[in-house]
Amino acid sequence: MLNAMKNENIIILGIESSCDETGVAIVNDKHEILSNQLYTQIDQHAVYGGVVPEIAARAHVEKIDILVKEALKEANLTLNDIDGIAATAGPGLIGGLFVGTSFAKTLSLATDKPFIPVNHLEGHALMSRLTHKTEFPFLLLLVSGGHSQILLVRDVADYELIGTTIDDAVGEAFDKTAKLLGLPYPGGAYIEKFSKEGNPKRFQLPRPLIHEDNCNFSYSGLKSAVRKIVMDLGDNITEQDKYDICASFQKTVVDIIVNKIQRALDKVFAPSINAVVLSGGVARNTPIREAVEKLAEKNGVECHIPDPALCTDNGVMIAWAGLENYKLEREGNLDFKPKPRWPLTELV
Ligand code: KG4
Ligand code: ZN
Repeated sequence: MLNAMKNENIIILGIESSCDETGVAIVNDKHEILSNQLYTQIDQHAVYGGVVPEIAARAHVEKIDILVKEALKEANLTLNDIDGIAATAGPGLIGGLFVGTSFAKTLSLATDKPFIPVNHLEGHALMSRLTHKTEFPFLLLLVSGGHSQILLVRDVADYELIGTTIDDAVGEAFDKTAKLLGLPYPGGAYIEKFSKEGNPKRFQLPRPLIHEDNCNFSYSGLKSAVRKIVMDLGDNITEQDKYDICASFQKTVVDIIVNKIQRALDKVFAPSINAVVLSGGVARNTPIREAVEKLAEKNGVECHIPDPALCTDNGVMIAWAGLENYKLEREGNLDFKPKPRWPLTELV
């Protein structure tokens, strides 16, 4: 049972370190972002074509104290002004999770402020409650490098899984497709850019599960189909071929997402929810944003999508989810262990 207790002038510092971004931010309960510091390690991983956990953990160690200092300076605050220290405690790469939670626990111990372990997915899920004041319940499409899920969000820590991927996450499909085309990691943004010059009708790609009456996704067949096209084109592949593959791929992803969100809206009964929310790194993608906005409008539901910079991993989402949990007295204690695997449905 969640009790709303703490309600005024709350200021929370949040730390994100679950993957390849070190983020530190400070937010308050007036929906203000007081500081937002982000260090992206992408350049360090790009040469390997994906995130190297050991490099990621080391880079978090090198940056985390600097970013906390900068975040306090940017907000013109000291640690005394902070009510709680939130950090991503999972899911994610264990090395990074240890760096962020250990740092947060140390600050908590030194300042006698509560430590708030935050689920990274809940960070994405609640982001629009800061930016758009989204009311519960809402329907969430969470699309990132590691997840593709449709959830009914009833409250903080209260999630019902409506659909999920049975193989690859959508961001993973973007990144693997980009890799097949020789584009840099992470490839999502490059695919979006290349798609602008391409013909989305040139290649017919599979839309797995689209005719099945459920809200699940499957993306590995799509990736294999792109691999076959690339292999068939071989060394003769032109820039225009690449543009057309990207456009066809992106159009297919949009179609699948629209189909599955419509099924979810039918299932949860659209008028009973307050908004459709899009979140996670793939929610930066403009055609996906526009398609979901259009679909929500057609169903007479509001559509809330955070600014692109708040869709990819950042400290603000962790600070905000920390604040929402703090308000409900959902703080952790110092022996809370990071969880590499931690589904949203296991928060209570
Ligand atoms: O949420 P996020 O920053 O990290 C995870 O929690 O996974 O999401 C990263 C993912 C990557 O797969 C990246 O390629 C994808 O988001 N992404 C995009 C775009 N920008 C980032 N995918 C499609 N279009 C974009 N513009
Ligand atoms: Zn994420």
